[in-house]
Parts: sequence; structure tokens; C-alpha cells
Amino acid sequence: MAGRFPDEFLMELRMRCDIEQTISMYVPLKRRGKNLVGLCPFHNEKTPSFTVYPDSQSFYCFGCGAGGEVISFIRRAENLDFSEAVRFLADKAGMVMPSEGYDNSMAEKRKRTYEINKEAARFFNSCLFSEDGKEGLEYFKARGMKKSTITRFGLGFAPNKWDALLRHMREKGYSWEELYEANLANKSEKDGRVRFYDAFRNRVMVPIIDVRGNVVAFGGRVLDDSKPKYINSSDTLVYKKSLGVFGLNFAKNSGEKSLILVEGYMDAITLHQAGFTNVIACLGTAFTGEMAHLLSRYADEILLCYDNDEAGQKATSRALGVLNSIGMKVRVVHLSGGKDPDEILRKYGPERVRSLIDGAANDIEFELLRARKDLDLMSSDGKMKYLDAAAEILAKTKNKIAQDIYSSRLAEELSVDKKSIVTRIEQFGRRSQRIENKNRFKNIQQTSMSENAKAALQNSTNIKVIKAEELFIACIYHNPDFMGRLDGAISAEDFSVSDNRAIFTAMSERIKEGESLEFTFFSQTLTPEQMSTFVRITKKNENLSSTFKTCTDCIDVIKSSKQKGSAAAAGHLSDEDFLSLFNKKGTNN
Ligand code: GTP
Ligand code: MN
Repeated sequence: MAGRFPDEFLMELRMRCDIEQTISMYVPLKRRGKNLVGLCPFHNEKTPSFTVYPDSQSFYCFGCGAGGEVISFIRRAENLDFSEAVRFLADKAGMVMPSEGYDNSMAEKRKRTYEINKEAARFFNSCLFSEDGKEGLEYFKARGMKKSTITRFGLGFAPNKWDALLRHMREKGYSWEELYEANLANKSEKDGRVRFYDAFRNRVMVPIIDVRGNVVAFGGRVLDDSKPKYINSSDTLVYKKSLGVFGLNFAKNSGEKSLILVEGYMDAITLHQAGFTNVIACLGTAFTGEMAHLLSRYADEILLCYDNDEAGQKATSRALGVLNSIGMKVRVVHLSGGKDPDEILRKYGPERVRSLIDGAANDIEFELLRARKDLDLMSSDGKMKYLDAAAEILAKTKNKIAQDIYSSRLAEELSVDKKSIVTRIEQFGRRSQRIENKNRFKNIQQTSMSENAKAALQNSTNIKVIKAEELFIACIYHNPDFMGRLDGAISAEDFSVSDNRAIFTAMSERIKEGESLEFTFFSQTLTPEQMSTFVRITKKNENLSSTFKTCTDCIDVIKSSKQKGSAAAAGHLSDEDFLSLFNKKGTNN
């Protein structure tokens, strides 16, 4: 196993990186008693079930089951491994990392991947201005890209060869495997021989740069109408596709309070060139809650500016739902007169885009417009359908003022009685509340399924044992001195759930050495999932007055079940089977 950080170092880190302050940078927290609550950054929720406990410097989400201390939080939030998360926090706290004794191989590998990407971006960019890249440069020019834009975004060209990049990178000292892992090379196996070749060929190249300025991935576009139009990097050590956005490195410095979200690279680049510096692109992936949380760190409001086709409008509706659910302000830009921002810019110029952005509809207006699109409001049938759809949309907002404003407007516009609209909204409201309650329950059931819960589901007779294991862990955590008195009455192998086994092992090691049981110290041996389980177990049993007898009772249950388990298994066998098992054993000896 890799080296460990000294306890003193971790303790100082824990003191300097107060959990309340650290998590507040990611999630707005409200005080509730001595604890704090907020909307969980690790899953989608509308009512806060994410709790921070300043006393024990820990957190736990009752919705999805994520929990731990400050380092586990950063691991999850920033997608880092343990020592990287420690470095991340140490940097913020102005602490110097211990010079040795910790595992930084992962960090080294990541660093190397960043270097590879940067070198590749440089190479593609230089090709664009070489003999090999003429066609690429022509392509960008034909789309109206200025030289300064090409430089600013680091655009490039991947030559029409199988090994242009590979050759270059090999000369720089990078291995085939490294290039393969960075998604820059593909691998083929034929007759037992492995061959590597360039992943991007004959494509104009767009580097994706993260907020810290690292090249993390690429998108490559064909020069004609062939398919696939784009090849985008998939996940690597330094890139998570579901969180990938293009242009945030520039947009975060735009000084604007909003971010404009478009679908494609080309839209984003041409809008930037036209002076809209707060534009980002979502790269064809579905908009997720995780993405919404990322963006909420850089903006107060999102302007959705998706393509003006059915797919774009569907994606808009979906993104609206996600953004609303985390309470982010959002408006929708209606692109009248063109299919995407790039086309509108080319056809009508930046003023038109500006006025479309300024006139962006709020989410309710967007949904109302969408609902009435194909209806004939002159016919009573069309009118009724529209009123129903509108009432459903307004019920969903739960915003009383908005409901009042829009039902007045609707009443006037369609010459109907406002009261009947309000009644309809209330009906839908009750119905959707029922559905929501049901779904929330279902979600909690699914997402909070820890390994313990899964184990319980697989074998319902285990519930008692799992409870005993959890109670035992909590007992020892709150009364470490019990461990010595147990005198080896229980060992790691006795635990049926592997997470519990890991927690028990980690606890007993520390107790044996006379070390304290702060959560912080466990985060370097336990996985984030095990940390979640650990915090959940100790919180759940916090107010339990446990005695030494509780411990030994738990051990009895844990151990007895094991014997019973094997007895029961044997009981399932017929006499014949049992005998044959016996005989086999005999012959083996
Ligand atoms: P242009 O047609 O050059 O204007 O491209 P665009 O950047 O406007 O892209 P488009 O609106 O067609 O698609 C939006 C985004 O979806 C692109 O920027 C890509 O990230 C992604 N995308 C589009 N086509 C493909 C494809 O064939 N494969 C993959 N993996 N992604 C694609
Ligand atoms: Mn486009």
C-alpha cells in the first residue's frame, strides 16, 4: 500500500479547511439547529436532504447516501483521488504538502495526460498552417473564422494520415499506450499483432479546455458532409464527458452574470468572435444535474440557446427541468429566422442575436409557446387543449405569483373566466404533488442503496445481521475502549458486508495504535462509498445509549447467523447430495 499522510498534517488540514466554509463554496447552506442543510450537489433534489455536521466535521445526504468528511467531499465534488484532494485543500489553506510518504502516482499520470493533450493541441495547430493543413484552414476561413479567433481557441487540423500525430508524439517521448489512454490513438488487433493509429484524421480540431486552462479533450469535425460529423474524445483520466463543456475557460472571465448555452462548437466560437464572450457549448450530451451545479458556480442565470428544431426544443425542455430543480434562474432564447446561432449571425449579424438574447423568454413563456405551437386557438377544441396544457405548465411552477400573472393573461387572451383557469391549475397541482411524492420515495430507495442495503435485498434474512454489524460499528466508534475488552471475540472475517469489514479493519487498526477516530484519518484508507456508509452508520446510532453488552449482543447475532447460514445451506441439500459432497471431499484427501 502507498504511504500515508501523517495524522498531524491531516489534522491541521481539517482545522484549516472547516467543513462548513468549504462546502458553502459549492452549496448554499442554511442553518438548522446546530447543523446545516442544503440541496445535495451529488444528486437532483428539490427539498434539501444534504446535511453538514460542524461538530463532527462531516456531511451526509439522506437522499442519495453520499457522506464523509471534508476530503471525501472534495474527492466527489472535484472528481479527484485522495492525495489530489488533499493537495487541492492544502493549496487553498496555504499549507505545504509533506515532501514524501504519500501516493502521487495518479497525480503524475494525470499531469502527463495534460502534457500529452497540450502537445497534441500544439501539433494540430501547427498543421493548420502547414502544407498538410491547407484544406483545414480553407474550411475555417469559409466559415468566417478570423486568424485571431483560430489562435485564441487553439484550433487545428489533423492531417489525412494514419500516424501524423503518433509520429510527432513518439519523438517527444510519449508511448503508444499513453496516447491510446488519452484517446488520441486507436488500437487494432490483427493476427495477434497490435497496431496503433491516429484517432483523428482529416478533421479540423477543436481543443476543449477546462476552467484551469488545461487541454482536456478534443472535438474533430469532417470537412464535408460525411459521417460521423464529429468525433469527440470519450472519458479519460482528465476528462468526464458528462461534465464536458466547451468555452467555460473564456466564458467564466466574461464579467457577465449569465452564461449562454448553445449546442455546438461552431456556434460557440462564432458567437465569441462576434463579441458574446459568455457563451459555452454543451457538446451534444444530455444536460445533467451535475452539469447544472458546475455552471451555477460561474453564473446566476443560464440562457438556453439550443437549435431551432424538434431535438433542440426537447433538449431545452429537459434542461429547463434540471435547472429549475436546483433553483437556478433560466431563460430561453427563441432563435427565430435560423436553425442555430451561427446561421442567424451569418444571415442577420450580431445585433439580431443581441435582440434575441435580450428578448429571451422565461421558462413559463417558453413552455406556453411550445404548447400552443400546433393548436388552432380559434377553435374551441384548440382553446380547451391549450388551456389544459397551460394549466399543467403553471401548476408545475408552484410559483403563486407567476400562476396569478399568467392565468390573468390567459383569461384575457382567450376570453375565459380566470377562476376556471385557477381551479384547473389547482387540480393539476394536487395530481403532480402525488406523483412527485411517489417518485421521490422511489428515488430515495434507489439512489441511497448502499452496499449494505443491497446485501439486505439480496437475502432478506440478512437484515438482522447487517443491523447488528452497523450497530456494532457505531458502538465501537462511540466507545473505542470497548475494543480492548472484546479480546478478539470478533474479527474482520466475521462481517458479511465487505464495506463493514473494511470499516471494522480500519477502526481496529487505529484503536490498536491508540490513535483517534476522527473521520479525516479514515478518508485515506476507505473509499468515498465506504466513508458514506461509515458516516451514515455513526449518525444513525448517535443518540443510542450503547453499553458493552450491546457490543457482545451484536457479536452473538453476527456470529450465530454465520453458523446458521451454513447449516441452512446444508439443510437445502438432499441426503444424496450431502453424501456425494462428503464423498468428493473424501477422495480429494
Ligand atoms: P456545424 O454543423 O459545423 O455547425 O456543427 P455544430 O458545432 O453547430 O454542431 P451541431 O449543432 O451539429 O451539433 C452539436 C454538437 O453535438 C457538436 O458540437 C458536437 O459536439 C456534437 N455532435 C454533432 N454531431 C456529432 C457526431 O456525429 N458525433 C458525436 N460524437 N458528436 C456530435
Ligand atoms: Mn451548427
